Amino acid sequence: MKTKGIILAGGSGSRLYPMTSIFSKQLQIVYDKPMIYYPLATLMLAGVKEVLLISTPKDTPNFEKLLGDGKRWGISIDYIIQDKPKGIAEAFIYGEKFIGDSQVCLILGDNLFYGKMDFLRRAIEANEGATVFGYRVQNPESYGVVEFDKNNNVVSIEEKPKKPKSDFAIPGLYIFDNSVVEKTLNLKPSPRGELEITDVQKEYLNLGKLNVEIMGRGIAWLDTGTPESMIEAGTFIHAVEKRQGRKIACPEEIALGMKFITKAEYLETVNRLPDCSYRDYCLRISDEYE
Ligand code: DAU
Repeated sequence: MKTKGIILAGGSGSRLYPMTSIFSKQLQIVYDKPMIYYPLATLMLAGVKEVLLISTPKDTPNFEKLLGDGKRWGISIDYIIQDKPKGIAEAFIYGEKFIGDSQVCLILGDNLFYGKMDFLRRAIEANEGATVFGYRVQNPESYGVVEFDKNNNVVSIEEKPKKPKSDFAIPGLYIFDNSVVEKTLNLKPSPRGELEITDVQKEYLNLGKLNVEIMGRGIAWLDTGTPESMIEAGTFIHAVEKRQGRKIACPEEIALGMKFITKAEYLETVNRLPDCSYRDYCLRISDEYE
């Protein structure tokens, strides 16, 4: 089953004002690259080559300027404008044509993951119905929360519950079969007027088709909701990159490593970059790949 990727990168960004008065949150810097590079890299590492980016009328042109059509990374990137932020699940309505008859992996543009992405590749391959993840956090009340029974069956899914029934938050990374479009079209907006992603998950849960995989401690899921968490994410990326001398979420390198592009195409792309340390890095590591 073919899997298409959607990055949802709109929203009002009001929580990060004044930083977001000119550029949206997902265009802000996380250490040495724009935030949007990280979710894009996650999709690429999962083997997803067709991507749709959905953002606001104001920001979509900036994303287009930054990422282009994806050809230089051996992928395709399409763009659609979401007029108003009326819910994460709207991604499937805006994305209906793009999704076609594929399944879809949705990632929120402000969700950063670091670690071995095999779990995601496996989940995409094995998905029937919907697959979402459970990740243990200290502040589950800030997220969608999944509750399990003694046998690890999913009992409930709740959006930002005041009294969370577990410590397992649901990261902004979801895999849905093709029926997600129809399910979302039949969904009613929540009391706050949004098409809630948790309501989509509940539809699958009620049909016995929601698979929740625990995302282990070996994966870092980094938050970017506040200035503090953004600097923490940047510090984390910096620490790992500095120690290893390797970049996290470098689309050029991932494209080469995943064989989305040939070595010759890689060098052509990299040689077109401005003279900078990012380009030096891309040239330096090229010998490690065939
Ligand atoms: O980060 C994971 C969490 O993301 C999940 O655990 C929650 O279940 C899910 O509802 C979501 O919670 P948030 O509080 O982060 O949702 P927020 O409304 O802030 O939207 C998340 C991102 O999606 C945000 O960067 C903006 C973008 N967005 C949001 C909405 C509602 C859009 O592009 N369009 C929208 O209409």
